[in-house]
Amino acid sequence: MKTMSATALLLAFFLVFSTKSSFFVEVANAAAVLDIDGNEVLTGVEYYVVSIIRGAGGGGLALDEFGFGRCPLAVLQRTLDTDRGDPLTFWPVNNDSVVSQSTDLNIEFVPPFSAWCRSSNTWRLDNYDPSSGKWWVTTGATKGQPGANTLTNWFRIENASGNGYKFSFCPSVCESCISLCNDVGIYDDEDPELGKRRRLALSPQPWRFQLIKTSRVIEQVA
Ligand SMILES: *[C@@H]1O[C@H](CO)[C@@H](O)[C@H](O)[C@H]1NC(C)=O
Ligand SMILES: *[C@@H]1O[C@H](CO)[C@@H](O)[C@H](O)[C@H]1NC(C)=O
Repeated sequence: MKTMSATALLLAFFLVFSTKSSFFVEVANAAAVLDIDGNEVLTGVEYYVVSIIRGAGGGGLALDEFGFGRCPLAVLQRTLDTDRGDPLTFWPVNNDSVVSQSTDLNIEFVPPFSAWCRSSNTWRLDNYDPSSGKWWVTTGATKGQPGANTLTNWFRIENASGNGYKFSFCPSVCESCISLCNDVGIYDDEDPELGKRRRLALSPQPWRFQLIKTSRVIEQVA
């Protein structure tokens, strides 16, 4: 029922139609997403997602370890520039071995399951939050099963006009659904108990990032 109410709200707030034909055209022409070494980003391989801005741009994306007791865990950006955050894996809806731009993806933190929350660490768009006016990105999604019931579980990586990449939410996993397209940005979430956290949410101002393969970082340290 929770999924249904979220979907209903999405339908009420946004009126962008996605059609079957545009979905297939996009998949056919999709260019691979590249990591900072210029290599194709691969399905199921671990990457850090870090700000494109060096110095004062903040660090990588991470699960909210301070959110204990608040389940599922929020997706946030670490404040320290040198903190690459937690590894992420990408799972395209087409089961391709390469992650392409403008393709619906499940995005999962490593480890994929939170024992504390007893839920997955796969991204999901949360219900509209009236107190902040935001659509926050949270976790707890089921991977795969494209369709009306999983509409809020799919995100895309788009080319941010030659200036890194951005996430968007523009699911086309359900041919008969009215869908929405929005970029994903970062906002401060002021919580009376948890303090200020930089969280991902739908936004007209996208957060720009680059991808660093985690094994590259391990090689450098070794
Ligand atoms: C992708 O893999 C899943 C699980 O194996 C399968 O159910 C689904 O049909 C596949 N999708 C495509 C587009 O091949
Ligand atoms: C992203 O877009 C820019 C210009 O819009 C283009 O020059 C660049 O090659 C694109 N990058 C990728 C990886 O597709």
